This record gives sequence, C-alpha cells and structure tokens, in this order.
Amino acid sequence: MNDLPISLRRYFQSLAGCAYFFAGGALRRKHRPLLYLLCKHFGFEKEPEGPSARPAATVPTVSASAIIQDDTAVCLSRIADVEGNITPAELMILAALVKQRGPAVCFEIGTFDGRTTENIAANQPVDGQCYTLDLPLDGADRAALPLASGDKTYIKKPVSGARMSKQAQSGRITQLYGDSGTFDFSPYYGKVDLMFIDGSHSYEYVLSDTEAAWKMVTPGGLILWHDYDSRWWPGVTRALNQLQGQDPRFAAIRHVENTALCCLIR
Ligand SMILES: C[S@@+](CC[C@H](N)C(=O)[O-])C[C@H]1O[C@@H](n2cnc3c(N)ncnc32)[C@H](O)[C@@H]1O
Repeated sequence: MNDLPISLRRYFQSLAGCAYFFAGGALRRKHRPLLYLLCKHFGFEKEPEGPSARPAATVPTVSASAIIQDDTAVCLSRIADVEGNITPAELMILAALVKQRGPAVCFEIGTFDGRTTENIAANQPVDGQCYTLDLPLDGADRAALPLASGDKTYIKKPVSGARMSKQAQSGRITQLYGDSGTFDFSPYYGKVDLMFIDGSHSYEYVLSDTEAAWKMVTPGGLILWHDYDSRWWPGVTRALNQLQGQDPRFAAIRHVENTALCCLIR
C-alpha cells in the first residue's frame, strides 16, 4: 500500500505545528511535555533510573472539597501561571484555605515572582502579616544543602517578587532573603498560622524546611507543601513519603487530589 500521501499530509501538518511550536508555542504549559519528548527522541534526555527514579506516591489523598468549605469566597489576582508557578487550581485552593482559616501570620519559603505571596496576603485578615523567604540570586552557589537539579532555573532571576504589585508589597508582605538551610527562623517559632513550603525541591531541603515549619507553626496551624508526586521533583515525593510514613508527627499529611499540594494540620 502506498502511504506516501498520508506521510506527506502529516509532514506538512507537523511543519505547521513546528512553526507555531518553535515560534513560542513551546512555552505554553500544555505544549511543554513535547520538549521533553523531543529531547528524549533525539537522545538528549534519559528517564531517571535507579534511586533517583520517580518514587511512587504513598501519601494518602484527600479531595479539595473535603478541606474547603463550600461557602468560601476568595480574592485572586495574577491567576495565569508562568513556568515555576503553582497552577491556577492550586492557587485557588491555597487562597481558599487562607480565607477560611484566617491566619494572622503566614510564612512562605520560595518567593519566586511573588504570585503566591500576593494571593496568600490578599486572603488573610486585614491585620495579617505574610513573610516570604527567597534565596538571593547569587545564593545558588553557596547553598548549605544539595539543591535539586532544576532549582537554579527559579533561583537565577533578576528580582524576587517581580509580579507582586507595589501596593501588595507595601502592605502586609515582608520579603526576606536567605538560604532556608541556614536562615534563622527562631524569631518565628510558635508564631506562624500557615506555612507554604515551595523552596528548593531537593530531598534534603524539603526535610530541613519541614523541620523549620514544625517549629514555627502553631498547634492547629496548617503546613502546605508543593510539588508532591511531580515527575520533575522526585526529592519532594521521597521526603514527604518518608515523613508521612515514618515520622508520627507527620502521619496526618494528605495529598490533595489532582494537585501537587500536600497539607497537614499541625
Ligand atoms: C518554584 S519557585 C516557587 C514558586 C512559587 N511558589 C509560585 O508559585 O510562584 C522556588 C523558589 O524557591 C527559592 N529557593 C530555592 N532554594 C531556596 C533556598 N534554599 N532558600 C530559600 N529559597 C529558595 C527559589 O529562589 C525560587 O524563588
């Protein structure tokens, strides 16, 4: 059978798709997996193997509807996500948890462009305070613990909090700079009502940031982690599997279904 006409049609359709893809379409989240597949096809990318392979997710799940009250109304800004942000659905869940719990003090590790910070602060009570810690631009080369491969993409940016409005920054948000592996968290011990951990994605940093969170968050307060069960960040999954499965303090961690969020009421 002559399949040349079909192949020719596919050739020109692919050509049109490639023109769009390489003219910028590749930066859209839904097209990005194709970059990985192309690199893999041409031998530039290998599936992780051995101990760094994607671990199975073992943290029990909870549905978003089970943790969010039905009548919670949130305030959202900068909803569209860029590479490195949490997804719009995750942003909504985070905002809803902040809104319904009314935390006076929030603490985020990993400011990045400030999108999550601004949305956390916008849903806190009017007299709330939101602290956000970020590694300075040159900090990647002096990090106290091993970073995950891929962390540097988000560390090496000209400015932290670039997407936060001036109004948000001058209100209840305080930007802090330092390495979460060495930062002095002691002034915040026992004072934080909600903590969001989305800094370095290495196993070592997730364990270290979680220990800091445990000391900072008040009993009954909420700890949230991002990037659980992500193919790109196996260290986060390994650390949270271990904490939930082996450390009684963290046995109640739950993975929010259809998201990369995990949560725990301390
Ligand atoms: C993936 S981004 C966070 C994204 C953010 N939550 C959002 O949705 O917009 C990770 C951030 O953690 C910061 N970071 C990485 N390692 C860190 C460390 N050791 N201490 C503090 N911040 C760190 C990076 O500079 C980066 O801004």
